[in-house]
Amino acid sequence: MTAATSLKSPAAAATRYVTEQNLTDIVLNRWQDIPDPRLREVMGALIRHLHGFVREIEPTNAEWFQAIDWLTRTGQISDSKRQEMILFSDVTGVSMLVDAINHRFKDGATPTTVEGPFHVADAPHISDGGNMAKGAPGIPCFVTGTVRDMSGNPVGNAMLDLWQTDGEGLYESQRNTDEPWMRGIFHSKADGSYCVRTVVPIAYTIPMDGTVGELVSRTNVSHMRPAHIHFAVEAPGYRKVTTHLFRDGDEYLDSDAVYGVKKALIVDFIEKQPGKAPNGETMSEPYYEVRYDFILQKAD
Ligand SMILES: [Fe+2]
Repeated sequence: MTAATSLKSPAAAATRYVTEQNLTDIVLNRWQDIPDPRLREVMGALIRHLHGFVREIEPTNAEWFQAIDWLTRTGQISDSKRQEMILFSDVTGVSMLVDAINHRFKDGATPTTVEGPFHVADAPHISDGGNMAKGAPGIPCFVTGTVRDMSGNPVGNAMLDLWQTDGEGLYESQRNTDEPWMRGIFHSKADGSYCVRTVVPIAYTIPMDGTVGELVSRTNVSHMRPAHIHFAVEAPGYRKVTTHLFRDGDEYLDSDAVYGVKKALIVDFIEKQPGKAPNGETMSEPYYEVRYDFILQKAD
């Protein structure tokens, strides 16, 4: 097409001269040319909001480059075990918003929370009552309960994938170990019951040595997470529940850095004296017990 004919085209003429005022409309118009309707919707909203954001803050060129540099470094330090992009999504509440939109469960079902950046796939399978904290520092803790449906019926052979900090507040990716650390996959028994031996998790700071920490440290926003154990519970025919159990009384319950705390997920960690533990072991030191029943909602 020559310059002369392109000027006669109404579309070309409309986009021939770009101004600060018409730029957003021109970009939106061009990005409507997408066959996939969902991608078209997403890109339209993205452009509208990105342009709205930029028009609101009016960044200097230096600020724009600073943002690009921050995003670049955030991607560069992410890998299969460290996920700084998810952490950014977490601390801005986006992860919890996406989670809420996708898990509008009925009242009574165990609510979900974010997965967070520390889940590692393919945890070791551990038999009922087994210890997922072998060799890890911390106070012994037993988590027991049942997996049930909304009518109270037991859900047997549900898969419970657990991960948490050790007693010093560190996850596997922060331990520099090639062996699985503080994680395991358990299964409920036919009566829906499960029993896990672990250690008491403690409150911890989100990683502050990366780009998210760099950002948070320039604010007064809390970088702490209250003590919790992560669970992903799934069984055929039911909605998967990825969630946490939080320790009641923790000082950070009201200021969780990733907005994950829901009332139904706060549980008592009850101190027990030495003696027979829920898995039949005889404990020679004090330990803790947590009891929680996971209630699964049927898949649609
Ligand atoms: Fe966590």
